[in-house]
Amino acid sequence: MALSVRKAVLPVAGLGTRFLPATKAMPKEMLTVVDRPLIQYAVEECLAAGVEEFVFVTGRNKGALEDHFDTAYELEATLHERGKNHELKLTQQATIKAGNAIFTRQQQPLGLGHAIWCARDWVGREPFAVLLPDELTIDSPSCTGQLVAAHERTGGNVVAVMEVPREQTKSYGIAAVKDEKDSLAEVTGLVEKPNPEESPSTLAIIGRYILQPEVFDHLDRHEKGAGGEIQLTDAMAKMVGHCPFHALRYRGLRYDCGSRIGFLEANVAVALHRADTTGETRALLERVLKA
Ligand code: UTP
Repeated sequence: MALSVRKAVLPVAGLGTRFLPATKAMPKEMLTVVDRPLIQYAVEECLAAGVEEFVFVTGRNKGALEDHFDTAYELEATLHERGKNHELKLTQQATIKAGNAIFTRQQQPLGLGHAIWCARDWVGREPFAVLLPDELTIDSPSCTGQLVAAHERTGGNVVAVMEVPREQTKSYGIAAVKDEKDSLAEVTGLVEKPNPEESPSTLAIIGRYILQPEVFDHLDRHEKGAGGEIQLTDAMAKMVGHCPFHALRYRGLRYDCGSRIGFLEANVAVALHRADTTGETRALLERVLKA
């Protein structure tokens, strides 16, 4: 039986250049979809999957991220005094159990692979989840929950993938697969950001992974790949054929909140999706479209 997944690595040290100037003084993972920051969606996705320990790989401007998951004593006391129980509950929900979060720094944004490598000593030698919080996924069970369930069956590495238009392969890690059954396929190759004409498939990795600790051994070499960055996909590619490696076709909602339009889409779609905001959002959209 595969070892269970207890830890998640959340890399949040990217520069977020596509979202400047919003990300000048604030990490993009603190951008808000409807009423909570992206990072909270990622943490809630993990908790729903039974993954309860977190390693945040941060860069500059980490303060807001740490504070978000801390107890906000003055705010909570004031809400309590004013009888704002619903608001108090929402505030208290956004915390992580004492001792279950670690913040480590990636001093230079050398790439996603390097960010994950920075978590190596905190993860140790056990399988772990990786979530890129700027990719928002919404499904039940959660995307990470689906990966954890798949990992329990297959062991090894499991990544979530989705079909993208061929002209977009240059923006993703792409998986070549075989023998797909019940949305799970064996990975036969991985390439980071291939040109459309060279891409082995149109199955893109969407920022959700269950990885074996052996990936750190490959990342140890600090080899640079696409864009001159240390790429996670390149380290994962070295494990193909050496341990079980599967791609799970994810069918839920997914938004690339690292891009302005993807972020706008996420806000509209989540507001439409949620029972407490759907009516008002529909009316708002009609108003805006008529104006
Ligand atoms: P992106 O590819 O979206 O890069 O990173 P970015 O720098 O955050 O954003 P842009 O492209 O400049 O707008 C994917 C994930 O990897 C993390 C990011 O924080 C994000 O969660 N990352 C990337 C790091 O933690 N460190 C890095 O060196 C690069």
